[in-house]
Amino acid sequence: MVRAAFSTINKMIDFKQHVVEALHKVCPSLTLEQLTVLVEVPPDAKMGDFAFPCFQLAKAEKKNPKQLAEDISKAISCDTKLVERVAATGPYVNFFLNRTAFMAQILKTVADNAGQYGHSKLGQGKTVIVEYSSPNIAKPFGVGHLRTTVIGASLTRIYSALGYKVVGINYLGDWGTQFGKLMEAYSRWGDDAELAKHPIQHLYNLYVRFHKEVETDPTLEDKGRAWFQKLESGDAAAVSQWTRFREESIREFERMYAELGIHFDVYEGESDYPKAADAAVSDLVTRGVAIESEGAIVVPLGDDMPPALLRKQDGTTLYLSRDLAAIDARKKKYHFDKILYVVGSEQILHFKQLKALLEKEQPAWAATVEHIPFGRIQGISTRKGTLVFLEDLLSETQERALEKIREAKVLDVNVDENEVARKVGIGAIVFNDLRTRRVKDVEFSWDKVLSFEGETGPYLQYAYARIGRLMEKVGVKVDSKTDVTPLNQEEAWAITRMLANYPNVIRNAAESNEPSFISTYLTDLASAFSSFYQNHRILGASPEFQKAAMLLVGNVRSVLHHGLTLLGVPPIERM
Ligand code: ARG
Repeated sequence: MVRAAFSTINKMIDFKQHVVEALHKVCPSLTLEQLTVLVEVPPDAKMGDFAFPCFQLAKAEKKNPKQLAEDISKAISCDTKLVERVAATGPYVNFFLNRTAFMAQILKTVADNAGQYGHSKLGQGKTVIVEYSSPNIAKPFGVGHLRTTVIGASLTRIYSALGYKVVGINYLGDWGTQFGKLMEAYSRWGDDAELAKHPIQHLYNLYVRFHKEVETDPTLEDKGRAWFQKLESGDAAAVSQWTRFREESIREFERMYAELGIHFDVYEGESDYPKAADAAVSDLVTRGVAIESEGAIVVPLGDDMPPALLRKQDGTTLYLSRDLAAIDARKKKYHFDKILYVVGSEQILHFKQLKALLEKEQPAWAATVEHIPFGRIQGISTRKGTLVFLEDLLSETQERALEKIREAKVLDVNVDENEVARKVGIGAIVFNDLRTRRVKDVEFSWDKVLSFEGETGPYLQYAYARIGRLMEKVGVKVDSKTDVTPLNQEEAWAITRMLANYPNVIRNAAESNEPSFISTYLTDLASAFSSFYQNHRILGASPEFQKAAMLLVGNVRSVLHHGLTLLGVPPIERM
């Protein structure tokens, strides 16, 4: 079954293969591999379905690229069952496919692989670690952490679709002197019931209170330090208190992750690594890689960046040394081929230093380490204020979604509006994080993210549901062997080209670690569907047209479903 599916996909590539082989016969100086890379899909169908740019070859052969394109298009011979026409436009040789043949093949392939179309074996036998989310205990889980969570989760799904073994790791910020402060604060103002009910909020309030009270009572600072020392030396009371903070916080994080449909394979934390970090630093000192500087231990990293600070004057380990120990442990445990750290742009220097340290010691695997930075979400505020907790953000989005849905009257009868509002809320927030290239800052506006028009999650969810409703109304079963000749028009052709491109989009998204490639693609696909739908009456059309249209539209629907799922935007069946 699976094998059959793959061979169909391979057959689909034959069109390009045919073009490449035909080109090779007239341009033997370029190999099939080189030609495969050079032959591209022009953005506009008017320019053909494949194009061969002649610049490179013209340069090598010292010819004029325009003339060369002319010569090639005259000399080349293609199978007219596959390629209808070859024409030179400027320095390009453009290939126009036999649309009916290509369409029949693509539409059949997508339909026969429903739910799996776009998957590949590219990553077979390879392991990718995606470290993402990684919130700090006792600090608010804010919009920045939401963004790593959303981007990271999407990357895990994208790599999985490409056949990689993916390990999703959540690396909690659960260690450091602030925990001593927190314990001191808890011993004074803590409330067990509150901790159980709203751990993150309660711990955060304690943290804020500590910093306020320390202004009038400076002895608090020392008391906090003493607690942390107790914790580091394994004092039972301190450890049990800290464990409780950690566990309660994780429980609350998990509630949010569940709401977003996210699951981690592994929870780690900085607390797992102080010992190993200490040993690693000592080892670097022994081998003369790390040196003492003003009582601290550092590794000089050249002129381009500040030295890596690995141990403080007081002997404690640091964020960077713990990361060094963590990656070492992960390498031993998972033998990864690639590790992605999905962490905001503020930490670019940190990861540069981490990589530079690895380059000194293990250049081969330094190359497998990639920081995936992202920009900030700006201008966000909820009814509660500008310090945004994820929980409040999600519940407010859902309330607003409900208002919006009622206002827009988009819902079908018999649909649970609360359930739709829940999904629209999540879709709006998630899509907004993935809408543009990740390094860009994102301007947040309630009206925009919740709009049913434009590049938004709700627009795609609505398009998906609308296609479902249309198919139900037409009531014709999708048959992948349907004759597609009635679809011989521009709008259907545009959709076909996009469907054919979907596997490339997923591959490119992984290559650049850019889920936004998929969001942009889905928006384009949904609007291509819209113009098809506007220009061609389906209800009341001939049975032949309806059958063919249902194959096309059913494929759009399944690719939308697939893409939305990769992003983490919940598809909505009925709305
Ligand atoms: N907990 C950190 C923060 O919230 C992010 C951790 C990133 N991961 C890492 N391996 N350093 O800023």
